[in-house]
Amino acid sequence: MITIRETFGIQDLKHIYFVESSCFNPEDTEDIKELSSFVSEKNYKTYIATKTISADNSDTILGYLACEIRTSHYYVTSVAVLPKYRKLGIAKRLLKQCFEDMPVNLIMCCDIRSSNVPSQHLFEKNGFKKVRDFESVYQDEIGFYYETEPKQKSIENNC
Ligand SMILES: CC(C)(COP(=O)(O)OP(=O)(O)OC[C@H]1O[C@@H](n2cnc3c(N)ncnc32)[C@H](O)[C@@H]1OP(=O)(O)O)[C@@H](O)C(=O)NCCC(=O)NCCS
Repeated sequence: MITIRETFGIQDLKHIYFVESSCFNPEDTEDIKELSSFVSEKNYKTYIATKTISADNSDTILGYLACEIRTSHYYVTSVAVLPKYRKLGIAKRLLKQCFEDMPVNLIMCCDIRSSNVPSQHLFEKNGFKKVRDFESVYQDEIGFYYETEPKQKSIENNC
């Protein structure tokens, strides 16, 4: 069974680094210092997808999502799933959990390389709209900036 949870902190770091370095080109890979901010600083929220290994009952990390918490929005800094576990809905579940935990009235946003079609599909299918091009984020190509509508109050909250 695949479970989505918030990271426990620094003890997940080496597994998150393994996912990160398995999923991105070296120039896009966050270094261990940056990743340690994701798991330990209050202005970040980091979610992981885990699977329990039945042999020794330990958890292995299959994917993660990190976002920076700002006053008006949550900015998704990274989302990655190990190649063997892609197209199973893991990234979608990570995004959904993060969105559910975000306070109402905030938006979620991210930027994506123009060549990263799987990622564009992931965000577009999950409520994000392309708002503008970015010329400066990536050195070698244009990026696209995406955002959601502000989160609405849930029906339960309205009761
Ligand atoms: C992008 C990435 C995180 C998607 O993870 P995933 O767990 O496979 O995604 P999901 O299974 O949750 O798919 C959700 C949606 O994304 C889209 N998608 C995922 N992989 C896709 C692919 N290879 N091609 C086209 N669309 C794709 C689909 O629209 C899918 O929705 P659907 O199943 O209803 O059609 C994964 O491919 C990855 O780790 N890529 C390398 C790292 C990266 O580029 N991260 C994003 C940086 S901004």
